[in-house]
Amino acid sequence: MPKRILITSALPYINGIKHLGNLVGSMLPADVYARFERARGNEVAFICATDEHGTPAELAALKEDQSVEDYCARQHDVQAQAGEKFGLSFDYFGRSSNPTNHELTQHFANVLEANGLIEERVDRQVYAVDDARFLPDRYVEGTCPHCDYEKARGDQCDNCGRLLDPVDLKDPYSAVSGSRNIEVRETRHLYLLQSKLQERVESWVENQTTWPLLTRSIALKWMKEGLRDRSITRDLKWGIPVSVDGNDRPGFENKVFYVWFDAPIAYIASTKDWAVASGGDWESWWRTDKGAEDVSYVQFMGKDNVAFHAVSFPCTLIGSEEPWKTVDTLKSLNWLTWYGGKFSTSEGRGIFMDQALEILPADYWRWYLMANAPESDDTSFTLETFAATINKDLADVLGNFVNRITRFCKSKFGEEVPAGGEPGPIEKKLYADLDQRITAYTEFLEKMEFRKACAELRAIWSAGNEYLQEAAPWAVFKEDPAKAAVSVRTGLNLIRLFGVLSAPIVPFTAEKLLAIFGETQTAWPAASASTLLTALPAGQEFTLPDVLFSKIEEEQVTQWKERFGAP
Ligand code: MF3
Ligand code: ZN
Repeated sequence: MPKRILITSALPYINGIKHLGNLVGSMLPADVYARFERARGNEVAFICATDEHGTPAELAALKEDQSVEDYCARQHDVQAQAGEKFGLSFDYFGRSSNPTNHELTQHFANVLEANGLIEERVDRQVYAVDDARFLPDRYVEGTCPHCDYEKARGDQCDNCGRLLDPVDLKDPYSAVSGSRNIEVRETRHLYLLQSKLQERVESWVENQTTWPLLTRSIALKWMKEGLRDRSITRDLKWGIPVSVDGNDRPGFENKVFYVWFDAPIAYIASTKDWAVASGGDWESWWRTDKGAEDVSYVQFMGKDNVAFHAVSFPCTLIGSEEPWKTVDTLKSLNWLTWYGGKFSTSEGRGIFMDQALEILPADYWRWYLMANAPESDDTSFTLETFAATINKDLADVLGNFVNRITRFCKSKFGEEVPAGGEPGPIEKKLYADLDQRITAYTEFLEKMEFRKACAELRAIWSAGNEYLQEAAPWAVFKEDPAKAAVSVRTGLNLIRLFGVLSAPIVPFTAEKLLAIFGETQTAWPAASASTLLTALPAGQEFTLPDVLFSKIEEEQVTQWKERFGAP
């Protein structure tokens, strides 16, 4: 029976194209997992969207002198295209600003209120007199009360990483106008009474025994500190209006929901948008009374997002007392750093998705990023290790294997799989080795241990090279052409198997490998290696491939280091 697997990637903020750190933090590992599960014949819904509300979107639009609506529409397309070029195989890439998300977000707020979990409270907020507006979150900047960093943002200090309350900033100024004419004024907001949900959410977290360690420890830490009521509205124009049954809530005409309240709900809304667009059924993915009880739901995200997914979003779902599907496995990743420092969107530091593709094809990045995924720790990206990895793994090991065997076959047997001979002891040794490795590789992908999976895939490629080295068809061809035919046939079958196994991680390359034999199917191998490596029949024609990977030269590294301002 195929399983039904719902996969979501943390929604990328709309403000600007994402950098490699964002990519490897959620979208890319989610894609690898989605491709793997599809290849195994499971039914996958892989959903993502742009996260469009909140102050970063408005500020970015302001900076570019565009209306926030136009800015978001444009940036959504830019991100959708970059994702496609990177091979991110979303079933749907939606938008958190779509009408469906407005409806669902208001729905949740209303049922939470009906369940006694919402309260209006008077809050003290930073107000800019000259701008005649409140300055929530990133609209206000100033000096961090903890570390004295002078450009701390209202919601967080980029220097010490602490979460802040805008009213605590020292020497605050407006990020909109720069004005220092700032007061603290009173304003009303909706509070979600998370404290009332402590018991239910805590027992839910405790039942999540399959969460990875990193996720679990972050979630339990929050439980121990105790759930605090949190404000879910903001004094802003751009966002989802705070309305009751289609009418503005009195006193909330100039307010919208907080971006972190509506963004996770967009997972559901985007699934619904997808279903509407494709004629599918979204409720069977999200409602446990409509078939979702047998869905396995996996979320991917950077570690800074765990609290929102392990605590806040579950509060929304559980507090609704409606039968919503909650997450089963929450895969979180650490940071990829840029030479040990921060990748930064606001400061343009690091390499961004569009720039990466200007210099090399997607699979070069996909391979490096997944093979070095920041799973157990933060991991430093450097162009030097990137070049070394590509040259060794992709060019020397995989590329060279394919090149060598196809060219040798063409010169001695022509462009078809040669006949003759029977597999002998070295082939049997290869089968046994691969049986073990394919099992291990499959298990690592299943458990989403991507670094280990890549190490195993690399070992599988190497096993091919070692086999060829030992079989040495070029040396035995003269004396024993039948024996040479066996190793060439095995080698060609290896290329095809590499195509199937590599597809989740380097899909464009996998496509090329399979195209050598006119194939496109990538069903995950279920058989043993002895069957897999005799799958291509003698006489099957093939096409000589172009060089798969070109090596990265030292001058290129030097040039890129300069272009991207590497230290
Ligand atoms: N935009 C957020 C970030 O990049 C992630 C939002 S995930 C969501 O950190 F589920 F809330 F949408
Ligand atoms: Zn600080």
